Amino acid sequence: MKIAITGGSGFIGTNLSSLLKSQHDILILDRIPSKIQDVDFTECDLLDSKKLSDVLEGFDIVIHLAAAVGVKLTEEEPLHTLNLNIQGTQNILESCKKNHVKKIIFASSSEIYGEAIHIPIKETDTPMPITNYGVSKITGEEYVKAYSKAHSIKYSILRFFNAYGPGQSNSFVMSEFVFKAIANKTITIHGNGEQLRAFCHISDIVNGISLCLDKGDNEIFNIGNNTEPVTIFELAKTIKKITNSKSEITFLPFEDTERKRTSEIMKRIPDITKAQNILGYNPRISLNEGIKTIFQ
Ligand SMILES: NC(=O)c1ccc[n+]([C@@H]2O[C@H](COP(=O)([O-])OP(=O)(O)OC[C@H]3O[C@@H](n4cnc5c(N)ncnc54)[C@H](O)[C@@H]3O)[C@@H](O)[C@H]2O)c1
Repeated sequence: MKIAITGGSGFIGTNLSSLLKSQHDILILDRIPSKIQDVDFTECDLLDSKKLSDVLEGFDIVIHLAAAVGVKLTEEEPLHTLNLNIQGTQNILESCKKNHVKKIIFASSSEIYGEAIHIPIKETDTPMPITNYGVSKITGEEYVKAYSKAHSIKYSILRFFNAYGPGQSNSFVMSEFVFKAIANKTITIHGNGEQLRAFCHISDIVNGISLCLDKGDNEIFNIGNNTEPVTIFELAKTIKKITNSKSEITFLPFEDTERKRTSEIMKRIPDITKAQNILGYNPRISLNEGIKTIFQ
């Protein structure tokens, strides 16, 4: 199939392109160069609707990953976040419509749920986002569903839960802790460390995406790994142990961090039964194994 991947130069996009390139015709669309040599790349901004429309001609599937991400950017620049994640998604959908693209796979996020009432979180639970990013992603989802209904474009919406792995920016907790631990530098936990998370290795995330190429039409899926939930404090201790680190673990009050307590989600674990049943998705990488892939 001819597949275009927006944000293909990013963390998930690079790993996804590597997985798919041997079996499909891949084009990476991004505003920064691709890290993969043998895959086609076109420099393109999500907000350049004319160029998007031109480059998407003849594609079967668009995997839409490009977005404003990260707490610092999305909290400090709400309008940029909303514009890129909502208008950018609408531009992609409009280009899909014009070019008769058959399916869009949209990267959403666990952030759309906000502070969940039930754990584990099911796709049918009510979205209650509490961040600019969460609001932008749930709006993107609604646009995808609206275009699908009006213009018969198939979709899969994937709500990723805490992806991690080699190549992820150090501004994300897993990479930050691992590299601090290796350097025996102080590991700083934001808040009391009781935030509960289920981390999912990048290879399981991209496998989940690839399953949607021929399954899961017009459905929303949680994509994550619910087998080993950990608190952030437990994560820091586990990483110290695996890396044989002498790092000290300290705690920083939320008031002194980029993410204030009011926008920090305390419990986040996915129910992945739907993805298991419909896609045959099953995460395989254990937390211990996954942590080692970051530095080995
Ligand atoms: N990594 C996670 O844990 C996680 C969790 C939930 C959802 N997601 C979603 O998955 C997607 C990919 O995330 P990631 O971790 O690979 O992020 P990333 O930041 O590594 O990659 C995003 C890519 O989008 C590109 N991009 C940004 N603005 C652009 C623009 N205006 N035009 C064109 N390209 C632009 C960036 O250059 C980057 O290469 C995002 O939509 C993100 O919201 C990721």
